[in-house]
Amino acid sequence: MTAGARQGDAAQRSSTPQGERAALDPTDTAGLLDRQHRVLELLAGGADRSEVLGAVTLALEELIPGSRCSVLVLDPARGTLHHGAAPSLPAAYSAAIDGLRIGDDAGSCGTAAYRDEAVVAEDIAHDARWDRYRAVALPHGLGSCWSSPIRGHDGVLGTFAVYHARPHRPDERERRLVARFTDLAAVALEHDRLYGALAESEERFRRAFEDNAVGMALTDLGGRFLKVNDALAAMVGHPATELLAGDLAAVLRPEDRAGARLLLRGLAAGTAPSEPLEACLVRGDGRTVQAALTASVVGAGSSRYVSLNVVDVTARQAAQRDRAARREAELAARVAEDASRAKSEMLSTLSHELRTPLQAIIGFSELLGTLDLPPTRREAALGHIDAAARHVLDLVGDVLDLARLEARALPLAPGTVDLAALVHEVLELLEPVAARRGIRMGTDLPTAGGPTACADPRRVRQVLINLVTNGMRHNHVDGWVRVEARVADGVVLAVSDGGPGIPPALVHRLFEPFAQLDGAAADDAGGTGLGLALVRGLVEAMAGTVTVESAPGEGTTATVRLPRAAAREDIADVAVPADPGVRSGRG
Ligand SMILES: Nc1ncnc2c1ncn2[C@@H]1O[C@H](COP(=O)(O)OP(=O)(O)OP(=O)(O)O)[C@@H](O)[C@H]1O
Ligand SMILES: [Mg+2]
Repeated sequence: MTAGARQGDAAQRSSTPQGERAALDPTDTAGLLDRQHRVLELLAGGADRSEVLGAVTLALEELIPGSRCSVLVLDPARGTLHHGAAPSLPAAYSAAIDGLRIGDDAGSCGTAAYRDEAVVAEDIAHDARWDRYRAVALPHGLGSCWSSPIRGHDGVLGTFAVYHARPHRPDERERRLVARFTDLAAVALEHDRLYGALAESEERFRRAFEDNAVGMALTDLGGRFLKVNDALAAMVGHPATELLAGDLAAVLRPEDRAGARLLLRGLAAGTAPSEPLEACLVRGDGRTVQAALTASVVGAGSSRYVSLNVVDVTARQAAQRDRAARREAELAARVAEDASRAKSEMLSTLSHELRTPLQAIIGFSELLGTLDLPPTRREAALGHIDAAARHVLDLVGDVLDLARLEARALPLAPGTVDLAALVHEVLELLEPVAARRGIRMGTDLPTAGGPTACADPRRVRQVLINLVTNGMRHNHVDGWVRVEARVADGVVLAVSDGGPGIPPALVHRLFEPFAQLDGAAADDAGGTGLGLALVRGLVEAMAGTVTVESAPGEGTTATVRLPRAAAREDIADVAVPADPGVRSGRG
């Protein structure tokens, strides 16, 4: 760059054309207004960018004789300038500089865009910024170039250049004119950007709407279709034109129309529901489609519309139903499997439990049949046979009761049970067994006149015998057992003992048939683990409940709650006529 060029440069940069708003010469004002008007008319008429920019450059050329003007447009992402308009410049020159990269030494335009300030190269032949472009400019008769940045809202949009054939220095008038026309070029470029972006976004929306696989529609606030896409038309099996003649309600099943109306009303009132509306569409061919509708309001003021998305969920719902049915079937199969396994286990345990006493019976019978025993041993053998036979009978009775309870076919004879009298009777009955084990039994109940339950007396007796027997059997020698009864939300019968308590490993299985700790069967009293299962079955059949609380080392309390006699509830659903032939287990 020459010293002269640098000096001129400094002088020019201090004033940028768009910054100048000094008054125009009165002679120019009319001409300028006239041309400005023409350009604005072109803009308003929707002329394309090159036409508008061409008009801007031609107008300036008319006002500055001997000048040739051009507009280059900046691609901000690439940092390059591109042809906008240059009606009087040689096409070869315009083509040669098209796409030039902006920079500190990129001719007048590239430098002006880069620095965002006007750059005047009074003499291209000697201006260092033109070193790379001089060979292109001079042969086309371009001797000087003055370029001004065109500024928009977000920065430089391009450059406005004024060329002269010979070295030239712009005067004040030219500066003012260029300032006005650069503004006009800015308006044209901004307008183009804005409408370009708008058109592009409109095109994007159009494509997103029309090509969407989801059914989409635009309706007024009353649900009348204004625009529908192909996917929606296909979903409801009506041509789009037919849909446009009707509204949303017309394609819904009658019972779903109220829901749709509610949705539209909510949208109009600004209370948009967050959940999609599940509704059934009726297709043109009469088939129905399960759909999920989501809607939102677009626009504002008097031009508010509803944007509707419709998704076909028929397959999804069918799959959900399928899954639920499969889950249910799996569950039922598992329950059946569990029940069948429990039955098999119970049968094998039962066979085992029966075998021991039956072997005893057979053994002692053989003994009696083959040996001539002395009377005392004979007596003892008969006693063993009797005890074993009773045990088998008890066992069979319990199993039978359990089976009947499970089938809800256990005969019950509901009546009024005087609990105090019953407790005294059972304690007396079991006293000999308790005495043998050194167990002290007791109750605070009077011998009669205590609380009364509404239940089958024989079955309550069976329950109480089971619980008291447990208290005695699973206890220390010389332990204690107490039985109490009171009125409390029905009547409560409580059997407590001070024994070792229930082993924690057993607590969760207490009421299962044959639930015993391993080795418990060897218990001297010969329990089989059916007692509590039977107790629960019986109590529940009489509309009651039973719970067992136990603390290891501190004892156990079994609590039975039954309906009170005064407030007798109907237990007939489990009660079938009493069968006098049925044995009462251990009762
Ligand atoms: N009061 C108690 N104290 C400690 N353990 C108990 C008590 N009651 C029940 N259990 C435990 O629970 C198990 C199951 O009791 P359940 O009455 O069902 O059977 P069982 O007494 O063993 O035999 P049976 O069929 O003759 O009643 C018992 O084997 C015992 O281990
Ligand atoms: Mg028992």
